[in-house]
Amino acid sequence: METKILTASDTDIAFAGEIIKNGGLVAFPTETVYGLGANALSSDAVKSIYKAKGRPSDNPLIVHIAEKEDIIPLVKEVLPKAQALIDAFFPAPLTIILKKSEIIPDATSGGLDTVAIRMPENEIARRIIKASGVPVAAPSANTSGLPSPTRAKHVLDDMNGKIDAIVDGGDCKFGVESTVITLVTDVPTILRPGAVTKEMLEEVIGEVALSSAVLEGMKDGEIAASPGMKYKHYSPRAKIVIVDADKEQYETFVNTRKNAFALCFDGDEISIPHLSYGSENDDLSQARELFDRLRQLDEMGARKVYARIPAKSGVGMAVYNRLIRAAAFNIIDLKKPYTLGLTGQTGAGKGFVCEYLKELGFKIIDADYYSKKLTKKNSPIFPALQAEFGEDIVKDGVLNRKLLARRAFISRERTDKLNSIMHPEIKKLCRAQAKGLCVLDAPQLLEADMQDECYKLVSVTAPESLRLKRIKERDNITDIEAKERISAQHPEEYYLSQSDFTVINDGKSDIKEQINRILEEIL
Ligand code: TXA
Ligand code: MG
Repeated sequence: METKILTASDTDIAFAGEIIKNGGLVAFPTETVYGLGANALSSDAVKSIYKAKGRPSDNPLIVHIAEKEDIIPLVKEVLPKAQALIDAFFPAPLTIILKKSEIIPDATSGGLDTVAIRMPENEIARRIIKASGVPVAAPSANTSGLPSPTRAKHVLDDMNGKIDAIVDGGDCKFGVESTVITLVTDVPTILRPGAVTKEMLEEVIGEVALSSAVLEGMKDGEIAASPGMKYKHYSPRAKIVIVDADKEQYETFVNTRKNAFALCFDGDEISIPHLSYGSENDDLSQARELFDRLRQLDEMGARKVYARIPAKSGVGMAVYNRLIRAAAFNIIDLKKPYTLGLTGQTGAGKGFVCEYLKELGFKIIDADYYSKKLTKKNSPIFPALQAEFGEDIVKDGVLNRKLLARRAFISRERTDKLNSIMHPEIKKLCRAQAKGLCVLDAPQLLEADMQDECYKLVSVTAPESLRLKRIKERDNITDIEAKERISAQHPEEYYLSQSDFTVINDGKSDIKEQINRILEEIL
């Protein structure tokens, strides 16, 4: 079929209305995204929408009306809260769900006993609905699963040859689909956030809930409040990963990525191929540009895209909701001070791992270094240590480390005591250095309770014989002292059970390969 491109002239609008009235499909602009319209009261017309989009037939459509009172024959009852929303907002990027009337075919409601109604703000849309003389079912005019179309070109890319006509009305004002709120639940619930925000709705009808599926994926076996929630959405071909970081962390991170693209904000300083979607403090600009940029990234051949996280407030909630679906819920959290925490038993060989991570551009924060710094000549921490481990561990302002180690590492209880004095200070010193992509290298990371400050935790392990050999050589101590130190530590299980990843450093396994695999998975 030839897809005609129409304008917003009176003749073209009348023609578009005629097509819909006669059971055909017309894509048209709305203030949110382009819709693919058909007669909502005709099962056959509606079925051709599903076919053109490749959309699962249990995913119901929104019925679009031209006047407020056009809702009356479509629903069982206009509940008082629905009427309040209509009076306050319609026409608007807002869709309300009520019990449906008999005239709504199952094909339109996806077999549900409810129907979604919206009166678009966009005038071209309302003129077309009026011209058709029927309520117009219209999902977003994209191929199911792809980003919604915000320009006529996007519709043409997806629908050319599959529908009767496209009315070109320029770029969409908001760029994300309408807010969907159901009024058939005890507390009105937002099923999809949009430009009409939760705060705006609450001002009119009081308490409004946010469906848990808005910010999280659906759990296995969960029944969708809105069938659309369970399907893959807004996904370009590229794999999108959201980076939860501030501007500087994001830039540092992204600029070290190879073969990747960035989906950043205006003004971000990015040295890899990138597109920006609006500016950091303007959620409306982000909404307007997001879908277009997702499509452009595909055109640029992007395979992997690191997207900067939007704020989740106001319209940003809608932006985040779309982006997290485009990313199939993949997020990297760099807001924590340390990207990786590295720990393990003494002698396991964290040093080798750090060397390689440093080569890869990570900043290494060595807790032992700060621990030594903390015990330099005349340290203010000495009195506390002396009170616990004996006056004689400090002589002429100098700490006798061997003596302290002998007294502290003799038992768990004594070790804990030493830790309770040292750890809070070491933590402060380390945190002061944390910046960008960094690794906290800390044998006592778990004991010091620093795991929550690390995005991911890696344990390094090695067989005991190897660890013994390493620490004897490194610290120049006897076999007995080495064994004592090892037995004062937690067993291997303690580290493994609390870590996200393990690196085996037994002198045989390839450390670089293990680290590459970890980074591949998390970044
Ligand atoms: O902004 C918009 O709403 C655009 C423009 C074209 O108006 N339309 C749009 O339609 O986004 P669509 O089909 O892409 O998304 C409609 C969403 C789906 O997630 C669907 O599951 C949900 O609304 N929905 C429709 N009827 C429903 C119902 N009766 N109960 C629960 N969810 C419903
Ligand atoms: Mg859609």
